[in-house]
Amino acid sequence: MNKGKKFTVSSFRKKKQNREKIVMLTAYDAAIGALAEKCGVDALLVGDSLGNTILGYSNTIPVTMDQMLHHAAAVRRGAPDAFIIGDMPFMSYRANPDDALMNAARFLREAGADAVKLEGGEDIAHLVSRMVLAGIPVMGHIGLMPQQVLTSGGYKIAGRTDDDAERLIREARALEAAGVFAIVLEGIPAAVSKKITENTGVATIGIGGGIHCDGQVQVVNDILGLFTSFVPKHAKQYANLNAEIEKAFTGYVSEVRSETFPTEENSF
Ligand code: KIV
Repeated sequence: MNKGKKFTVSSFRKKKQNREKIVMLTAYDAAIGALAEKCGVDALLVGDSLGNTILGYSNTIPVTMDQMLHHAAAVRRGAPDAFIIGDMPFMSYRANPDDALMNAARFLREAGADAVKLEGGEDIAHLVSRMVLAGIPVMGHIGLMPQQVLTSGGYKIAGRTDDDAERLIREARALEAAGVFAIVLEGIPAAVSKKITENTGVATIGIGGGIHCDGQVQVVNDILGLFTSFVPKHAKQYANLNAEIEKAFTGYVSEVRSETFPTEENSF
């Protein structure tokens, strides 16, 4: 992280204007938060993807506010200077506007987050304006929205037709008018993301959104090669921690069984 130069909502706008890419990564615990901050990641998203990556669910639907706050607070302890965004989980903002506002505030008050993220476009713009007016910075999220997996019948790329591409541009503009400081574009063809990026004043952050977005976000487990089965097309593996961990665990199992661990060196 830029030591002494705290990343803020204004940094998103400035970076877009200066055509400097914004680097975001998910983080779910203190150790990874600390490493990401140390390595210069601009902003950390405590994503509800922790339902899949950490909690072992098959989608993000079961994730609760309390689980999100628990992990967001851990990331804050590990990365005290990072710009941290708390992801509002399923049904924490769509049931009623007062609960939405108070749940968003919990991320700032109880977990020390700097902002929240909500999935949705025109349909949630009224919630976004209310949060921003109350002093809560909001990041939007359009395109493929994992919290809609049951109604969409799976994880589907958005914006493939001209009409749907136009709809996405409208959604982005509605979010901008409502006051978001940035918008995640997930699972959107690169050419459509380019149009959205050129047609909005706020920074666009892609995940499966192509190269033209103002920044990128990735799920940390995906780039570390730390997944169980599914490897998404949008992810690049910068390490293969699965293989490293398997090697370490088999070594440990074998040395305990063969009584070659602990040695004198590990004993008191
Ligand atoms: O939950 C998450 O990690 C996200 C990213 C995929 C943007 O929302």
